[in-house]
Amino acid sequence: MSRKLVHILSGLLFLASWPIFSTSTGARYFASLVPSLNCLRLVMHGLSLVPDDGLIKSVTRRGNPEELLRGPLFYVLVLIICAIVFWRESPIGMISLAMMCGGDGLADIIGRRFGALKIPYNQQKSWAGSISMFLFGFLVSISMLYYFSAFGYIEFEGVWTVKRVALISLVATLVESLPITETVDDNISVPLASMMAAFLLFGY
Ligand SMILES: *[C@@H]1O[C@H](CO)[C@@H](O)[C@H](O)[C@H]1NC(C)=O
Repeated sequence: MSRKLVHILSGLLFLASWPIFSTSTGARYFASLVPSLNCLRLVMHGLSLVPDDGLIKSVTRRGNPEELLRGPLFYVLVLIICAIVFWRESPIGMISLAMMCGGDGLADIIGRRFGALKIPYNQQKSWAGSISMFLFGFLVSISMLYYFSAFGYIEFEGVWTVKRVALISLVATLVESLPITETVDDNISVPLASMMAAFLLFGY
């Protein structure tokens, strides 16, 4: 359970902290300091340069250090890329993080608890998980966009925005449901699909 809370909360708190940074051009890099240090930590422990059982337990599924270099490393890289590339000027990064942390994170928790009924083309994923992914990806994205629009960084254009976010959430959910997890980590496929869909639909 704590591994999933890390998955959900570390990214969402990072995203929610963006408004506290200044308007200077260096702010996005300064904000990326924390995930960058985490990135370094994952690489060091992933290569077993320094042992850290607590870290390994808190983010990996099977408990071997090399796992840190896959899902968890991609996760922090996505945090850094979203901050540096999109920052507060575009809804793309906000939505991508909401889908990866909120959507995928909650889908994992709910899927494990209520996911007896699997989806037809992937025995690893369940209806409960996919429906939660869609719902929470959508709700967390909408909340984040609303939050950033309240600070005046982006514009929340009512139904226009809601419809687009619903479509992006559907794309992210479909990609997450595909039986490709062995080849592409969900921590890459979900944010990447969300970024592309958001770029096509929002255009900035
Ligand atoms: C994604 O990253 C989180 C946070 O580091 C980690 O707990 C999770 O296992 C990763 N997911 C996958 C599918 O590797």
